[in-house]
Amino acid sequence: MKDKIGVGIIGLGTVGSGVVDILCRNGDLIKRRLGVPLKIAKIVERDLNRPLPPEISREIMTRDIKEITENPDVDIVVEVIGGFEPAESYILNAIENGKHVVTANKALLAVSGEELYRAASRRGVDLYFEGSVCGGIPIIKAIREGLAANRIESMYGIVNGTSNFIITKMTEEGKGFEDALRESQKLGYAESDPTFDIEGIDAAHKLSILVNIAFGTPVDFKEIYTEGISGISPLDISYAKEFNYKVKLLAIAKMKAGSIEARVHPTLIPNNHLIATVDGVFNAVYITGDAVGPTLFYGKGAGALPAGSAVVADIIDVARNILKGSIGRIPPASFKEENRMPLRILSIDEIESMYYFRFTVLDMPRVLSRISGILGEHEISIASVIQKGRKEGGNVPLVMMTHEAVEKNVRSALQEIDRLPVVSEKTTMIRVEEGR
Ligand code: HSE
Repeated sequence: MKDKIGVGIIGLGTVGSGVVDILCRNGDLIKRRLGVPLKIAKIVERDLNRPLPPEISREIMTRDIKEITENPDVDIVVEVIGGFEPAESYILNAIENGKHVVTANKALLAVSGEELYRAASRRGVDLYFEGSVCGGIPIIKAIREGLAANRIESMYGIVNGTSNFIITKMTEEGKGFEDALRESQKLGYAESDPTFDIEGIDAAHKLSILVNIAFGTPVDFKEIYTEGISGISPLDISYAKEFNYKVKLLAIAKMKAGSIEARVHPTLIPNNHLIATVDGVFNAVYITGDAVGPTLFYGKGAGALPAGSAVVADIIDVARNILKGSIGRIPPASFKEENRMPLRILSIDEIESMYYFRFTVLDMPRVLSRISGILGEHEISIASVIQKGRKEGGNVPLVMMTHEAVEKNVRSALQEIDRLPVVSEKTTMIRVEEGR
């Protein structure tokens, strides 16, 4: 029996520092849980002068990746540099050398996950990635293990803290989008490229990982429909409030008659739905399984310690597998490799949803009837309408909620409506979900 488990950490950025911090401060507790200590054998980092806790000797810092991937004292390689290259080569190299890998790299898993899962299975090593989705929330473990008895029916996630922070500021303080974005950047929440946060790309990366392990299907990341929050105006947030809805950037996945809906976009969700109460930088995933019913997982989705918590939990899991000889106990993609089935992801045109429309129209007779006529011709049934203000002959917002309609019909109807001379601006459309 091994008397310690060696860990090699690639990258001492936010997540890496959190991992080192936790391994130092909770080392004794982790040893009591595991039976043996976790020992940091090497840390690869470009900047050798990065601050380290006093317990860690500077001698274990190196710039040479081989000191981790080819080091016999390293059992588990922890990749926390993020991005595609060199992270992918480092992970594949570590796997080839028989190392187990823990990563928090959502973008890489979303795009190249299949290759990595296959490489790990072929080589008979573990590949864990709890830190890649929703930071400290143990959502991967929940899906792979806690909910393993269930057919997953649907998932609604707030999986990007930065965009949730921005929308919360717009909702609670009436701030404009740019203002709220600047505040999130000042607080250090946004990714180095904030378009990943605000255009929904980061959320789509995370959704593709969740869909993969929840439904047992490889996912082509490009097939996930993605729309961000940069087009949301405080006006829509306040009209949504009047209908008793909140606007949230939701990552949505549903099983629909053997196909999958997987999409990220701003969504109106009823005020009294649990996911609507998730504000600020917090993340949450609301998952419904056929046996368990609805469940909610909530917590901090980013930051050194929450993300570090997930990564260290993975290290402990893999260490337990090593100590008990149970490597591969949980397949990386949750289903046995040979039992995974490619499922079709529905195109956005095929989905059925309810909709919120904000038309900007001339305030004059027969405008509403022309618009509702076109909607009716496209099988779109109106649930409620409000006209804001009165400006005879001038522009006014006309706000409408619909019953369920097919998106393709909605797009055609809006194209036609936006060509009417009485419509003065491109119509705003936001999808509406009841969240069941
Ligand atoms: N930029 C991400 C977020 C960090 O805002 O949620 C965690 O993946």
